[in-house]
Amino acid sequence: MTRTIEPDRPLAGKVAYVTGAARGQGRSHAIHLARAGADIVAVDACAQIATFSGYPMAEPGDLAETAHLVEAEGRKILTAQVDVRDLDGQQKAVADTIKTFGRLDFVVANAGVCSWGRLWEISPEQFRETVDINLIGVWNTIKATVPAMIAAGNGGSIMTISSSAGVKAPPGCGHYAASKFGVVGLTKSLAVELGEYGIRVNTLLPYGTNTALGNDTSMYKLFEDHPAYVYSYTPNLLKTDGLVEPDEISDVVVWLASDSSRVITGAQVPVDKGFLAR
Ligand SMILES: NC(=O)c1ccc[n+]([C@@H]2O[C@H](COP(=O)([O-])OP(=O)(O)OC[C@H]3O[C@@H](n4cnc5c(N)ncnc54)[C@H](O)[C@@H]3O)[C@@H](O)[C@H]2O)c1
Repeated sequence: MTRTIEPDRPLAGKVAYVTGAARGQGRSHAIHLARAGADIVAVDACAQIATFSGYPMAEPGDLAETAHLVEAEGRKILTAQVDVRDLDGQQKAVADTIKTFGRLDFVVANAGVCSWGRLWEISPEQFRETVDINLIGVWNTIKATVPAMIAAGNGGSIMTISSSAGVKAPPGCGHYAASKFGVVGLTKSLAVELGEYGIRVNTLLPYGTNTALGNDTSMYKLFEDHPAYVYSYTPNLLKTDGLVEPDEISDVVVWLASDSSRVITGAQVPVDKGFLAR
């Protein structure tokens, strides 16, 4: 049976599960997916759970604002205040998704944290917290969502948010790079495993993006102490007067969710104005 696709709402009738959706890139992805026609499940810890980051996490009011903005697009939204490290919490959110919407088509595993320090100087707690949230948190999202997608039998698209630091390791955040390299490996394996179910799996590699994480000034202390590190953070190829805007990443998320990218899976997609090409 051929599905009728409304040109301006290519994702109509579909449902997207987005983590880290209270603000920043996750909120933007939720709004853009809704604008393209999808109903949204927005997950965020909304709590100060990041012990080592130089910027605060989102608050419950931020998730409520995401809900308001998605509803303003004319779509439905279910919110869940869940830490991605909590597998049971994510499984409950998925059960609520199926109860409310009856299906799950897209996953954006986006929640993540960043902090700074040299690998032999950071504490075991800082290393573990980063890997727990950025890598095991993504695996929890996959473990919670994939069975429902397979059971629905509608195929779908999973997008993990890694980083340029997931393929080109920079100094000063090796723990972050290790977690993001892990996300790339996990995504590639999952793409191979899910091909037979018609579920596509791709990872996005953003570089500096205009969010709380991307504007964390605590990294400048590291550059002051180790000025040579700055050369690893070279300018992008495209002319720019600032960081990449979350909207610009969301355009790629909507494309990867849509049938326009139906032959693309197992890919790492840079969204970096050419940073990785230099
Ligand atoms: N901003 C950048 O420069 C940049 C570059 C490359 C990759 N990324 C990645 O993009 C993703 C989104 O980050 P952002 O830039 O929007 O930052 P952000 O800090 O604005 O948003 C991250 C969101 O995730 C939530 N979150 C954090 N830990 C969580 C947890 N354990 N469980 C549930 N929610 C949690 C926060 O509350 C926040 O709402 C992250 O994975 C980040 O590593 C960001």
